[in-house]
Amino acid sequence: MTRILITGGSSGIGLALTRRALARGWNVSWISLDPAEISAAQDALKADYPDADIDALCVDLTEADAIDRITQWVKKTAAPDILVNNAGIGFFGASAQLDPAREQAMIALNISALHAMTRAFIPLMEKKGGTIANIASNSAFQPVPFMAVYAATKAFVRHYSLALDRELTEAGSNVRVMTVCPAAVKDTPFKGAAGMDGLRTFDSFTSTTADEVARDVMRGLDGRKRFVVSGAKMRAVYILTKLAPAGLVQAIVRREVERV
Ligand SMILES: NC(=O)c1ccc[n+]([C@@H]2O[C@H](COP(=O)([O-])OP(=O)(O)OC[C@H]3O[C@@H](n4cnc5c(N)ncnc54)[C@H](OP(=O)(O)O)[C@@H]3O)[C@@H](O)[C@H]2O)c1
Repeated sequence: MTRILITGGSSGIGLALTRRALARGWNVSWISLDPAEISAAQDALKADYPDADIDALCVDLTEADAIDRITQWVKKTAAPDILVNNAGIGFFGASAQLDPAREQAMIALNISALHAMTRAFIPLMEKKGGTIANIASNSAFQPVPFMAVYAATKAFVRHYSLALDRELTEAGSNVRVMTVCPAAVKDTPFKGAAGMDGLRTFDSFTSTTADEVARDVMRGLDGRKRFVVSGAKMRAVYILTKLAPAGLVQAIVRREVERV
Protein backbone atom coordinates (compact mmCIF):
# COMPACT_ATOMS: atom_id res chain seq x y z
CA MET A 1 0.00 0.00 0.00
CA THR A 2 1.26 3.50 -0.84
CA ARG A 3 2.49 5.36 2.23
CA ILE A 4 2.45 9.18 2.19
CA LEU A 5 4.03 11.33 4.88
CA ILE A 6 2.83 14.94 4.96
CA THR A 7 4.37 17.69 7.09
CA GLY A 8 1.64 20.08 8.24
CA GLY A 9 -0.87 17.37 7.33
CA SER A 10 -3.45 18.37 9.94
CA SER A 11 -4.39 21.69 8.32
CA GLY A 12 -5.07 23.41 5.00
CA ILE A 13 -3.42 21.92 1.91
CA GLY A 14 -1.99 19.03 3.96
CA LEU A 15 -5.45 18.08 5.23
CA ALA A 16 -6.99 18.32 1.74
CA LEU A 17 -4.20 16.08 0.44
CA THR A 18 -4.85 13.68 3.31
CA ARG A 19 -8.51 13.36 2.23
CA ARG A 20 -7.49 12.54 -1.33
CA ALA A 21 -4.89 10.05 -0.12
CA LEU A 22 -7.40 8.31 2.18
CA ALA A 23 -9.91 8.16 -0.68
CA ARG A 24 -7.29 6.16 -2.59
CA GLY A 25 -6.80 3.83 0.36
CA TRP A 26 -3.29 5.10 1.03
CA ASN A 27 -1.58 4.92 4.38
CA VAL A 28 -1.12 8.48 5.72
CA SER A 29 1.27 9.85 8.35
CA TRP A 30 1.60 13.41 9.56
CA ILE A 31 4.21 15.58 11.14
CA SER A 32 2.50 18.62 12.66
CA LEU A 33 2.97 21.14 15.40
CA ASP A 34 -0.18 21.37 17.48
CA PRO A 35 -1.42 18.20 19.28
CA ALA A 36 -4.95 19.62 19.72
CA GLU A 37 -5.20 20.38 16.00
CA ILE A 38 -3.89 16.91 15.13
CA SER A 39 -6.48 15.13 17.24
CA ALA A 40 -9.34 17.41 16.05
CA ALA A 41 -8.38 16.78 12.42
CA GLN A 42 -8.12 13.02 13.03
CA ASP A 43 -11.61 13.03 14.63
CA ALA A 44 -13.08 15.03 11.74
CA LEU A 45 -11.64 12.61 9.17
CA LYS A 46 -13.15 9.61 10.98
CA ALA A 47 -16.63 10.75 9.87
CA ASP A 48 -15.74 10.22 6.20
CA TYR A 49 -13.04 7.59 6.57
CA PRO A 50 -13.94 5.44 9.62
CA ASP A 51 -11.00 3.10 8.99
CA ALA A 52 -8.47 5.93 8.72
CA ASP A 53 -5.58 5.35 11.08
CA ILE A 54 -3.27 8.33 10.74
CA ASP A 55 0.00 7.98 12.54
CA ALA A 56 1.04 11.47 13.66
CA LEU A 57 4.20 12.82 15.19
CA CYS A 58 3.87 16.10 17.01
CA VAL A 59 7.14 17.94 16.47
CA ASP A 60 8.36 21.44 15.79
CA LEU A 61 10.33 20.98 12.58
CA THR A 62 12.59 23.90 13.48
CA GLU A 63 13.88 22.34 16.71
CA ALA A 64 17.43 21.05 16.75
CA ASP A 65 16.48 17.41 17.45
CA ALA A 66 13.49 17.33 15.04
CA ILE A 67 15.17 15.35 12.26
CA ASP A 68 16.57 12.76 14.71
CA ARG A 69 13.13 12.28 16.26
CA ILE A 70 11.50 12.00 12.84
CA THR A 71 13.97 9.49 11.42
CA GLN A 72 13.70 7.32 14.57
CA TRP A 73 9.91 7.42 14.25
CA VAL A 74 9.98 6.56 10.53
CA LYS A 75 12.37 3.65 11.11
CA LYS A 76 9.78 2.08 13.46
CA THR A 77 7.32 1.73 10.56
CA ALA A 78 8.50 1.98 6.97
CA ALA A 79 9.91 4.72 4.78
CA PRO A 80 7.20 6.58 2.87
CA ASP A 81 6.72 6.23 -0.88
CA ILE A 82 5.87 9.93 -0.93
CA LEU A 83 7.10 12.68 1.38
CA VAL A 84 5.31 16.02 1.09
CA ASN A 85 7.30 18.87 2.63
CA ASN A 86 4.26 21.08 3.06
CA ALA A 87 4.62 22.78 6.48
CA GLY A 88 5.34 26.45 5.96
CA ILE A 89 4.57 29.87 7.41
CA GLY A 90 4.41 33.42 6.10
CA PHE A 91 4.33 36.92 7.56
CA PHE A 92 3.14 39.98 5.65
CA GLY A 93 4.74 43.39 5.99
CA ALA A 94 7.64 45.64 5.06
CA SER A 95 10.82 43.74 5.80
CA ALA A 96 12.49 46.69 7.57
CA GLN A 97 9.53 46.82 9.96
CA LEU A 98 8.82 43.13 10.57
CA ASP A 99 10.23 41.57 13.73
CA PRO A 100 13.49 39.97 12.51
CA ALA A 101 12.67 36.93 14.67
CA ARG A 102 9.57 36.33 12.53
CA GLU A 103 11.66 36.52 9.38
CA GLN A 104 14.15 34.07 10.88
CA ALA A 105 11.26 31.75 11.79
CA MET A 106 10.15 31.67 8.13
CA ILE A 107 13.70 30.90 7.01
CA ALA A 108 14.04 28.18 9.68
CA LEU A 109 10.86 26.34 8.67
CA ASN A 110 10.43 27.09 4.96
CA ILE A 111 14.11 26.66 4.06
CA SER A 112 16.20 24.96 6.75
CA ALA A 113 13.65 22.38 7.89
CA LEU A 114 12.61 21.55 4.31
CA HIS A 115 16.24 21.13 3.34
CA ALA A 116 16.98 18.96 6.39
CA MET A 117 13.92 16.77 5.77
CA THR A 118 14.81 16.37 2.11
CA ARG A 119 18.41 15.41 2.89
CA ALA A 120 17.32 12.97 5.61
CA PHE A 121 14.69 11.24 3.47
CA ILE A 122 16.66 10.74 0.24
CA PRO A 123 18.69 7.87 1.78
CA LEU A 124 15.65 6.54 3.66
CA MET A 125 13.61 6.36 0.44
CA GLU A 126 16.38 5.35 -1.97
CA LYS A 127 15.99 1.58 -1.69
CA LYS A 128 12.23 1.42 -2.27
CA GLY A 129 12.16 4.53 -4.46
CA GLY A 130 9.68 7.39 -4.22
CA THR A 131 8.88 11.06 -4.60
CA ILE A 132 9.60 14.05 -2.41
CA ALA A 133 7.05 16.78 -3.16
CA ASN A 134 8.24 20.19 -1.98
CA ILE A 135 5.56 22.86 -1.65
CA ALA A 136 6.81 26.21 -2.92
CA SER A 137 4.41 28.96 -4.07
CA ASN A 138 3.55 31.25 -6.97
CA SER A 139 5.48 33.84 -4.93
CA ALA A 140 8.60 31.91 -5.99
CA PHE A 141 8.24 33.22 -9.56
CA GLN A 142 9.44 36.78 -8.85
CA PRO A 143 10.34 39.05 -5.91
CA VAL A 144 7.24 40.07 -3.91
CA PRO A 145 7.32 43.37 -2.00
CA PHE A 146 5.81 43.09 1.51
CA MET A 147 6.41 39.35 1.35
CA ALA A 148 10.12 39.82 0.68
CA VAL A 149 11.42 37.04 2.93
CA TYR A 150 8.46 34.67 2.44
CA ALA A 151 8.76 34.89 -1.35
CA ALA A 152 12.53 34.45 -1.12
CA THR A 153 12.10 31.29 0.98
CA LYS A 154 9.78 29.89 -1.68
CA ALA A 155 12.24 30.85 -4.45
CA PHE A 156 14.78 28.77 -2.54
CA VAL A 157 12.36 25.81 -2.43
CA ARG A 158 11.73 26.06 -6.16
CA HIS A 159 15.36 26.40 -7.24
CA TYR A 160 16.71 23.86 -4.78
CA SER A 161 14.07 21.25 -5.60
CA LEU A 162 14.39 21.56 -9.37
CA ALA A 163 18.20 21.39 -9.27
CA LEU A 164 18.20 18.49 -6.81
CA ASP A 165 15.77 16.52 -8.96
CA ARG A 166 18.09 16.97 -11.93
CA GLU A 167 21.08 15.81 -9.90
CA LEU A 168 19.23 12.74 -8.60
CA THR A 169 18.08 11.83 -12.10
CA GLU A 170 21.61 12.10 -13.48
CA ALA A 171 22.89 9.95 -10.60
CA GLY A 172 20.32 7.24 -11.38
CA SER A 173 18.59 7.69 -8.00
CA ASN A 174 15.25 6.03 -7.27
CA VAL A 175 14.08 9.23 -5.58
CA ARG A 176 12.46 12.04 -7.53
CA VAL A 177 11.68 15.56 -6.39
CA MET A 178 8.49 17.31 -7.49
CA THR A 179 8.22 21.08 -7.06
CA VAL A 180 4.70 22.42 -6.45
CA CYS A 181 3.82 26.11 -6.80
CA PRO A 182 0.25 26.82 -5.64
CA ALA A 183 -1.48 30.13 -6.32
CA ALA A 184 -2.91 32.03 -3.31
CA VAL A 185 -5.18 29.61 -1.44
CA LYS A 186 -8.47 31.13 -0.24
CA ASP A 187 -9.57 28.58 2.31
CA THR A 188 -6.69 27.69 4.64
CA PRO A 189 -5.65 29.29 7.97
CA PHE A 190 -2.38 30.43 6.36
CA LYS A 191 -3.48 33.89 5.22
CA GLY A 192 -4.97 34.81 8.62
CA ALA A 193 -1.89 33.62 10.49
CA ALA A 194 0.33 35.48 8.02
CA GLY A 195 -1.52 38.80 8.40
CA MET A 196 -2.53 38.55 4.74
CA ASP A 197 -6.32 38.76 5.18
CA GLY A 198 -7.86 41.16 2.68
CA LEU A 199 -5.02 41.07 0.17
CA ARG A 200 -6.20 41.27 -3.44
CA THR A 201 -4.30 38.10 -4.36
CA PHE A 202 -6.68 35.91 -2.30
CA ASP A 203 -9.66 37.41 -4.18
CA SER A 204 -7.94 37.37 -7.55
CA PHE A 205 -9.22 35.17 -10.38
CA THR A 206 -5.99 33.17 -10.09
CA SER A 207 -6.64 32.21 -6.44
CA THR A 208 -7.32 28.60 -5.66
CA THR A 209 -8.53 26.23 -2.93
CA ALA A 210 -6.75 23.65 -0.81
CA ASP A 211 -8.64 20.87 -2.56
CA GLU A 212 -7.62 22.11 -6.01
CA VAL A 213 -3.98 22.15 -4.87
CA ALA A 214 -4.38 18.62 -3.47
CA ARG A 215 -5.88 17.48 -6.78
CA ASP A 216 -2.97 19.01 -8.70
CA VAL A 217 -0.44 17.36 -6.37
CA MET A 218 -2.10 13.98 -6.99
CA ARG A 219 -2.12 14.57 -10.75
CA GLY A 220 1.54 15.55 -10.57
CA LEU A 221 2.39 12.38 -8.66
CA ASP A 222 0.37 10.22 -11.07
CA GLY A 223 2.00 11.87 -14.09
CA ARG A 224 5.51 11.77 -12.59
CA LYS A 225 5.75 15.55 -13.06
CA ARG A 226 8.76 17.46 -11.87
CA PHE A 227 7.10 20.89 -11.72
CA VAL A 228 3.46 21.63 -10.92
CA VAL A 229 1.85 25.07 -11.01
CA SER A 230 -1.46 24.75 -9.13
CA GLY A 231 -4.57 26.35 -9.91
CA ALA A 232 -5.75 26.08 -13.43
CA LYS A 233 -5.87 29.86 -13.95
CA MET A 234 -2.48 30.35 -12.33
CA ARG A 235 -1.00 28.02 -14.95
CA ALA A 236 -2.14 30.34 -17.75
CA VAL A 237 -0.84 33.40 -15.90
CA TYR A 238 2.47 31.65 -15.26
CA ILE A 239 3.03 31.22 -18.98
CA LEU A 240 2.16 34.89 -19.59
CA THR A 241 4.57 36.02 -16.86
CA LYS A 242 7.36 34.13 -18.63
CA LEU A 243 6.67 36.19 -21.76
CA ALA A 244 5.91 39.59 -20.19
CA PRO A 245 8.60 42.20 -19.31
CA ALA A 246 9.85 41.85 -15.72
CA GLY A 247 8.77 45.43 -14.88
CA LEU A 248 5.17 44.72 -15.89
CA VAL A 249 5.10 41.49 -13.87
CA GLN A 250 6.49 43.36 -10.85
CA ALA A 251 3.80 46.08 -11.18
CA ILE A 252 1.04 43.45 -11.31
CA VAL A 253 2.47 41.60 -8.31
CA ARG A 254 2.68 44.87 -6.33
CA ARG A 255 -1.06 45.42 -6.95
CA GLU A 256 -1.84 41.86 -5.86
CA VAL A 257 -0.46 42.53 -2.36
CA GLU A 258 -2.65 45.62 -1.77
CA ARG A 259 -5.52 45.31 0.68
CA VAL A 260 -8.98 45.61 -0.92
N1 LIG B 1 -2.20 29.40 1.65
C1 LIG B 1 -1.63 29.90 0.57
O1 LIG B 1 -2.11 30.90 -0.02
C2 LIG B 1 -0.41 29.25 -0.01
C3 LIG B 1 -0.03 29.54 -1.32
C4 LIG B 1 1.12 28.96 -1.85
C5 LIG B 1 1.86 28.10 -1.06
N2 LIG B 1 1.48 27.83 0.23
C6 LIG B 1 2.30 26.94 1.03
O2 LIG B 1 1.55 25.76 1.27
C7 LIG B 1 1.97 25.16 2.49
C8 LIG B 1 0.76 24.84 3.36
O3 LIG B 1 0.06 26.04 3.60
P1 LIG B 1 -1.47 26.07 4.07
O4 LIG B 1 -2.12 27.17 3.34
O5 LIG B 1 -2.07 24.72 4.03
O6 LIG B 1 -1.26 26.59 5.58
P2 LIG B 1 -1.73 26.02 6.99
O7 LIG B 1 -3.12 25.55 6.92
O8 LIG B 1 -1.36 27.11 7.96
O9 LIG B 1 -0.79 24.74 7.22
C9 LIG B 1 0.53 24.84 7.64
C10 LIG B 1 0.85 23.59 8.42
O10 LIG B 1 2.23 23.63 8.81
C11 LIG B 1 2.33 23.26 10.17
N3 LIG B 1 3.47 23.90 10.82
C12 LIG B 1 3.69 25.23 10.97
N4 LIG B 1 4.85 25.43 11.64
C13 LIG B 1 5.36 24.19 11.90
C14 LIG B 1 6.52 23.73 12.56
N5 LIG B 1 7.41 24.59 13.08
N6 LIG B 1 6.72 22.40 12.68
C15 LIG B 1 5.82 21.52 12.17
N7 LIG B 1 4.72 21.89 11.51
C16 LIG B 1 4.48 23.21 11.38
C17 LIG B 1 1.04 23.80 10.78
O11 LIG B 1 0.80 23.18 12.01
P3 LIG B 1 -0.18 23.93 13.07
O12 LIG B 1 -1.45 24.21 12.35
O13 LIG B 1 -0.30 22.94 14.16
O14 LIG B 1 0.53 25.20 13.44
C18 LIG B 1 0.04 23.43 9.70
O15 LIG B 1 -0.37 22.10 9.85
C19 LIG B 1 2.96 26.16 3.12
O16 LIG B 1 4.28 25.74 2.84
C20 LIG B 1 2.66 27.46 2.41
O17 LIG B 1 3.78 28.32 2.36
C21 LIG B 1 0.35 28.37 0.76
